[in-house]
Amino acid sequence: MGHLISISDLSLEQIDALIATADDIVQNPQKYSEACKGKKLAALFFEPSTRTRLSFEAAMLELGGSVLGFAGAAQSSAAKGETVADTARMAACYADIMAIRHPLEGAPMSAALHSTVPVINAGDGGHEHPTQTLTDLLTITRELGRLNGLTIGVCGDLKYGRTVHSLVQAMARYDGVSFIFISPDELKMPDYVKACCEGRYREQSDFEAAMPELDVLYMTRIQRERFDIPEQYDKLKDSYILDAQKLKNAKQNMRVLHPLPRVNEISADVDDDPRAAYFRQALCGKHIRMALILSLLSGGGAQPKGEVAQSGTSCKNPKCVACCELSVKPLAKDDKCLYCGTILN
Ligand code: NCD
Repeated sequence: MGHLISISDLSLEQIDALIATADDIVQNPQKYSEACKGKKLAALFFEPSTRTRLSFEAAMLELGGSVLGFAGAAQSSAAKGETVADTARMAACYADIMAIRHPLEGAPMSAALHSTVPVINAGDGGHEHPTQTLTDLLTITRELGRLNGLTIGVCGDLKYGRTVHSLVQAMARYDGVSFIFISPDELKMPDYVKACCEGRYREQSDFEAAMPELDVLYMTRIQRERFDIPEQYDKLKDSYILDAQKLKNAKQNMRVLHPLPRVNEISADVDDDPRAAYFRQALCGKHIRMALILSLLSGGGAQPKGEVAQSGTSCKNPKCVACCELSVKPLAKDDKCLYCGTILN
């Protein structure tokens, strides 16, 4: 039994296989319509969600399975102080697989360490969002026919945007991919993400100058809920707005992706441009999650492994589950916190 906690849990071969299954699902839907008959997905959403939760639910229903769960921490026993680990132990009694979205970084890892059924990270704070990345990889494959040899512009809130942390870690493993990280100085890509694409990225704050080079422009929302100081959000919220005028300098076959929801970083006049792929991207999310559920229920995925962190080196990230929940055992992998990836020293 395995889990999907980080996009790095999957090899490129496993990603290829998921994309192939997602395409087969579109070609032969009847083959899959009872594939998960009698199986239940627990959708444990402690944070707001539209696409991720609905696409997980639609995915399980289209596989002939059923869904239980909650949307909002206020409706779960977290409101009474229950730990993520205990919630996961309970959900494993009632469901065959679970998807967890949680504001604490590393919460799905904590769940996986205590669950007897597969756990899927559906977004953990500002850390990772591996199923969005699988969605993005399927979208790019369908739209451009390849994942190699692309110049990808990643724009917006690169500090707190979990989708781009997972996306860059995945795309960096493909040949000939380079990145342009476009953000205000205050919202730059974290070092642990940049470390995986050393020598293949540049950082800039100017949006329009990058446009003619790009094969993919990945827009993101400024993540209001992650800011400790609200005035900081107000200052940065309209840093980048893509409109039809700015697209004039882009390649004819460039694609604009966005995990959605958008606030106002893409104006509505872009929606009818054939290069706007973000609504098609949302549909890809259902197909790839169907493939993922099938894979994990048949034994795919990774087993979390960590060592007990040496005393005095436990995680200092105040948004990490290992800092916020006293019962979480501090664990390390390659001198990083097993839960949130923060470098321990
Ligand atoms: C993203 C998320 O939740 O991180 N949305 C999604 O899952 N499709 C992006 C965001 O909220 O900005």
